[in-house]
Amino acid sequence: MAKKLAAGNWKMNGTSESLSEIAALIAAHPNPSVDVLLCPPATLIAAASTAKGSHALGLGGQDCHANVSGAHTGDLSAQMLKDAGASYVIVGHSERRTDHGETSDLVRAKAEAATQAGLTAIICIGETLAQREAGETLAILDEQLQASVPDSATAATTVIAYEPVWAIGTGLTPTEAQIGEVHAALHSALGQRFGDGGDFSLLYGGSVKGSNAAQIFAIPHVHGALVGGASLKAADFSPIVTAL
Ligand code: G3H
Repeated sequence: MAKKLAAGNWKMNGTSESLSEIAALIAAHPNPSVDVLLCPPATLIAAASTAKGSHALGLGGQDCHANVSGAHTGDLSAQMLKDAGASYVIVGHSERRTDHGETSDLVRAKAEAATQAGLTAIICIGETLAQREAGETLAILDEQLQASVPDSATAATTVIAYEPVWAIGTGLTPTEAQIGEVHAALHSALGQRFGDGGDFSLLYGGSVKGSNAAQIFAIPHVHGALVGGASLKAADFSPIVTAL
């Protein structure tokens, strides 16, 4: 059974003042029945880890380098994130693919590094609007999925996030049928390749908010969400956690 996961990605938002939102989220969900994860900027992970104490809230990084260490100014290894208190790391987010030219081959290497460090990798894939309008969505996603997910991936170490690029931060979401079609295809592809596709958690991401979360979570093979803007404030994220 795939685990349910409500994941928040703060992206390049948040300073130490934002730790109060983590405290508020913990107060709202003292014993969450689903896995709840926040990926703040890496600068806040250690402080967030201290602030959360023994609460089950997970913490994650938003990216990691594919190498363990070395001359890579400004980069962070998966081990460093783990040392700061992370148990997850997002890799291959469309903003990394676009802003930093990350390829699926690099994303796969990062996912392998994450797993080797003991982190769960959240591997992101998604089509652009032009690709959807050209009828290429499933082909593009399968290409990204096959190339980005390492052979060593298991449902215990890897989560897949489907994030249509055109739905991120736009207020637009695919129809329930479109999300359902993609998640069924991902489930099937992972099952064919790994034999345990039914166990991989498949997140949807892109303009998820309290008002649409329950509808999205009711779609078959949707096991949670990767939430951007609506994860910044506990008051906005909490209804999403409740809906899951
Ligand atoms: O990682 C999160 C996604 O990019 C979704 O962002 O909820 O602001 O659309 P959004």
